[in-house]
Amino acid sequence: MQGEPLLKIENLVKHFNVRLGAFGERGATVHALDDVNFEIIEGETLSLVGESGCGKSTTGFTILNLHQATSGKVIYKGENIATFDDKAMRPLRRDLQIVFQDPYSTLNPRMTIGEAVGEPILFHKLCTKAELPDRINRLLTDVGLPPRFAGRYPHELSGGQRQRVAIARALACEPKFIVCDEAISALDVSIQAQIINLLLDLQEKYGLTYLFIAHDLAVVRHISDRVGVMYLGRLAELATREQLFANPLHPYTQALLSAVPEADPVLEKTRQRQVLQGDVPSPLNPPTGCRFHTRCPIAQEVCAQTIPEWRQIEPGHMVACHMVPGGLHA
Ligand SMILES: Nc1ncnc2c1ncn2[C@@H]1O[C@H](COP(=O)(O)OP(=O)(O)O)[C@@H](O)[C@H]1O
Ligand code: SF4
Ligand SMILES: [Mg+2]
Repeated sequence: MQGEPLLKIENLVKHFNVRLGAFGERGATVHALDDVNFEIIEGETLSLVGESGCGKSTTGFTILNLHQATSGKVIYKGENIATFDDKAMRPLRRDLQIVFQDPYSTLNPRMTIGEAVGEPILFHKLCTKAELPDRINRLLTDVGLPPRFAGRYPHELSGGQRQRVAIARALACEPKFIVCDEAISALDVSIQAQIINLLLDLQEKYGLTYLFIAHDLAVVRHISDRVGVMYLGRLAELATREQLFANPLHPYTQALLSAVPEADPVLEKTRQRQVLQGDVPSPLNPPTGCRFHTRCPIAQEVCAQTIPEWRQIEPGHMVACHMVPGGLHA
């Protein structure tokens, strides 16, 4: 992917301190995100995939400074916003938006759709009160809803329509970057396609940059410019969509991709499915060395001892695995 980075994520770490035991008598640390490094290029869709609990949402939240980073940097417009407090973040909140899986939980049931879409516009003082109805109409039209929906309430809408409202709310701030956190995962397949096409149209119209968090690799293949694969709080591989699907290097990526049905019936017949043994280990006590070593079909002794380096194998193709040969030097 060519172009300027909009965000640079450097050595990002997020640990959660939790209390365990019936009376919360024991303290423990959830290693949700460890030493994650990547850039998000202006105008691209970068997807993050990986099993549930691998740290995708935590990555999105920590980039947006909705979770305070334990350490590491998120560089936006030349500054490390990971250290910003609420006041310093306020002017940036407009630029950096998020759309969640379940818009029902984020839309106030007592607010009309028009009020919900107008709220961020008023908050950020983006237009006068007199201009507001026009602005709301335009946003609803942008997301494919008739302007008369402004007077309706969330419960009167379908799931897909509510997700369009959530997108309109994000769009109302005239953002540069939107984290779509499983934004289509709860919708019917036919509706998913509509929302994906809407997101792609809006990206083109407004030059948006997306971090698209998903677990459906068929969708990711359709929508992404680049794809990052996460395992237990670390990035395993990051590449362009073409590189990743044609030449997956990390054994975990290979296992994930082997589970995706092929559209071509001939290829589908010969597809070898790699089933991973065991469950994802607990992030309370992640395995030493390569975190995938307890399930990796080709693990060697070194894998349990040494954390694999995050290396570039070909231009734009990064991987963290001791057994992948080669590598480019910066
Ligand atoms: N607020 C929190 N407090 C404690 N642990 C959390 C919190 N949020 C997420 N986690 C833990 O961090 C890990 C990563 O979670 P998450 O980022 O939600 O994964 P994903 O989005 O990939 O499913 C999980 O083990 C999850 O239980
Ligand atoms: S570093 Fe070792 S355990 Fe980890 S993915 Fe590579 S081969 Fe498997
Ligand atoms: Mg999540």
